[in-house]
Amino acid sequence: MSDETRRPWWQTAVIYEIYVRSFQDTTGNGVGDLQGILDRLEYVADTLGVDTIWLTPFYPSPMADFGYDVSDYRDVHPLFGDLPTFDRLVARAHALGLKVLVDFVPSHSSEQHPWFEESRGARDHPRRDWYVWRDPRPDGAAPTNWLSVFGGSAWELDARTGQYYRHSFLKEQPDLNWRHPALRAAMLDTMRFWLSRGVDGFRVDAVQFLLKDPAERDNPLNAERAGPAHKPLGAFDSQVHLYDVAHVDIHDIFRAMRAMVDAYDPPRMTLGEVHVYDPVELGAYYGVDLNGLHMPTNFGLFKVPWTAAGVRRVVDGIETGLPAGAWPNYSLGNHDDPRLATRLGEHGSRQAAVLLLTLRGTPILYYGDEIGMREAEIPPEQRQDPWGIAEPELSRDGCRTPMQWSAERGAGFTSAGDPWLPVGSDYAERNVVSQLGDPDSLLNLYRRLLALRRRSAALQQGLYRPVDPVPDNCLAFQRTLGAERVLVAVNFTPDARSVAIGEFAGRIAVSTHRANEGREVRGALEMLPHEAAVIV
Ligand code: NOJ
Repeated sequence: MSDETRRPWWQTAVIYEIYVRSFQDTTGNGVGDLQGILDRLEYVADTLGVDTIWLTPFYPSPMADFGYDVSDYRDVHPLFGDLPTFDRLVARAHALGLKVLVDFVPSHSSEQHPWFEESRGARDHPRRDWYVWRDPRPDGAAPTNWLSVFGGSAWELDARTGQYYRHSFLKEQPDLNWRHPALRAAMLDTMRFWLSRGVDGFRVDAVQFLLKDPAERDNPLNAERAGPAHKPLGAFDSQVHLYDVAHVDIHDIFRAMRAMVDAYDPPRMTLGEVHVYDPVELGAYYGVDLNGLHMPTNFGLFKVPWTAAGVRRVVDGIETGLPAGAWPNYSLGNHDDPRLATRLGEHGSRQAAVLLLTLRGTPILYYGDEIGMREAEIPPEQRQDPWGIAEPELSRDGCRTPMQWSAERGAGFTSAGDPWLPVGSDYAERNVVSQLGDPDSLLNLYRRLLALRRRSAALQQGLYRPVDPVPDNCLAFQRTLGAERVLVAVNFTPDARSVAIGEFAGRIAVSTHRANEGREVRGALEMLPHEAAVIV
């Protein structure tokens, strides 16, 4: 690739999310750890072939929300290892050509963070306003009707000082006050701490929650009960979140983070967790003149039906709705949503692999989706997720079960009889070892797609152009860069389809149906039922 066409690394990267508790246990306690990730880096970099890892929180934490309740932003929880192990992990990752993103949790700390312990101790403590404290209403009620995402009021009365503190998530996760300059400075310093340890950037948690309506108005009720379509509605969806989410001032914070992160060399980045489905609104998170988040997450594909029209709606929206120069991203799995393979099924999982790795934008993959791990059934007595305990149909345990490495007992994840969450019941058949040995497996499809993407500048950074017309419920597009052209087609139907491809001529480089690979294509692409293919 010439220097003129080279883009920032995070635009050509493929990001792989590792849920730290569930990737590899090396101590035999049933919980994954940093040494385990270190031991598995060759799998990630060479066997699978992605180039960036995102590690979920591994900081000291009482684990009320499994690490998203941080009690020390600058250390490693002993359960996961220590700072020297973290440093070795980063060094080894870099030696293998992998970039490392760590999860940064700025909207709230743990109630056991020393800052909160000081803050809650006395109304006049200098750190009191590092969190959000309010008097009760005259009748003693909470200051607003705002809800916690995990259910119940977003306010907790603290008997010690007679005031309420705000928590957008669990009451064990008090909201930090980003309107306080000293808190803001301390949090940016935390980011510097990790940047100077060599991390390549951050996945920034829950950024929409950083600032709320300064007038603290009550939310209106959500009469239509609208919410995300890919999972059941929760108590939180009973309001329209006009005043408790995403006050416009959050963009000042993103600008400050951006300016700080951009001062580092080699370049670093921020991937902010944003749940916004309108592409123009999502575009605002990139900032005016792209001085905001490097990438706000695009969860659009989660929400639409898995049809050509559904996918096309999201992709066209992103292609036309984001500001000029804003780099898109796509994902279909993470530690908060039901497993991709369970949502989309066997064919859908294979089509998803093709789309994620060929659309214009950075793909974000979730560990285990490359082998089609299913949403696990967790017996009630083994439930862990606090949200799932409050609202069982929203439990996130099923997508967080141990990585299925092999058919050995413990799935090659742990020697413990009893991992923190049970291993998926299909681990003996569905695991990395067995799929590596099967040329038609989902894992080998991912490997071929990732290898193709690595050698194709057009797939990494080329333009996107839809191909029209195509048969009903089929999708086709071209990716082009200079003279290189790649054509991608997906047949969402259970029937054979013929897709006219005009002047384009080439060879099927990768297909969900491997027997078709290598076939020459000219004029029309004859597609098998459910097939997705990449033609070069
Ligand atoms: C979003 C994270 O992805 C989720 O796992 C966590 O529970 C909440 N933010 C609160 O930090």
